[in-house]
Amino acid sequence: MIHPEQQRRAYLEALGIDVWVPRGQADPEPGAGDSATPEVPDGPDWSELRGAVSSCTRCPLHESRTQTVFGVGNQEADWMIIGEAPGAEEDRRGEPFVGRAGKLLDEMLRAVGQGRDSVFIANILKCRPPNNRDPRPEESAQCRGYLERQIALVQPRIIVAVGRIAAQLLLDTDTPVGRLRGKTHRLGEIPLVVTYHPAYLLRSPSQKRKSWEDLCLARRVATEVAV
Ligand code: URA
Repeated sequence: MIHPEQQRRAYLEALGIDVWVPRGQADPEPGAGDSATPEVPDGPDWSELRGAVSSCTRCPLHESRTQTVFGVGNQEADWMIIGEAPGAEEDRRGEPFVGRAGKLLDEMLRAVGQGRDSVFIANILKCRPPNNRDPRPEESAQCRGYLERQIALVQPRIIVAVGRIAAQLLLDTDTPVGRLRGKTHRLGEIPLVVTYHPAYLLRSPSQKRKSWEDLCLARRVATEVAV
């Protein structure tokens, strides 16, 4: 069995975080700590992860960003909302979903009894793609570890993937959103519901009803798994 400390170091190294190991502690005794089953899988804590994201240079997007957009909200949220990537306003303010689409997302969440402070909101990419183009596969691959660790730390009861990019990348599919929404998927053990991106809903308000239904489904699922 891999010792949790070794696993943590491997995780930090994979994320490009320098690991400083005090002399004599490089290799834990075999079996040491094996009996402890941590609730959260071992890896960087919130502040290590935040630091790694803010100094990330794993893909060329770091050259054009104003700042990284880590994510915001309740670190112990039942709901985790995952979008695509920061836009211009998010890049300027360092917070996800703060532009027009973000305001609509806030309203949608409020309609199901959630708010920015009760959920955790993150994106697939932590840096803005120039001209709001779609994330490139290599960019989302380089960023994936950060999001996975955020999910592992939050341990949400429900993930809501908003929009095509988030839904298709998380579920590893090219099925259109219209066919992914309206049902419950799984990301590992965690239930995942897909809905339309609020930017799309601003252009196609007639689809808002479907998004409302998706969020009601998410609320049902989140409540069902609650013990
Ligand atoms: N669109 C997204 O997907 N994420 C943001 O943070 C802003 C707009």
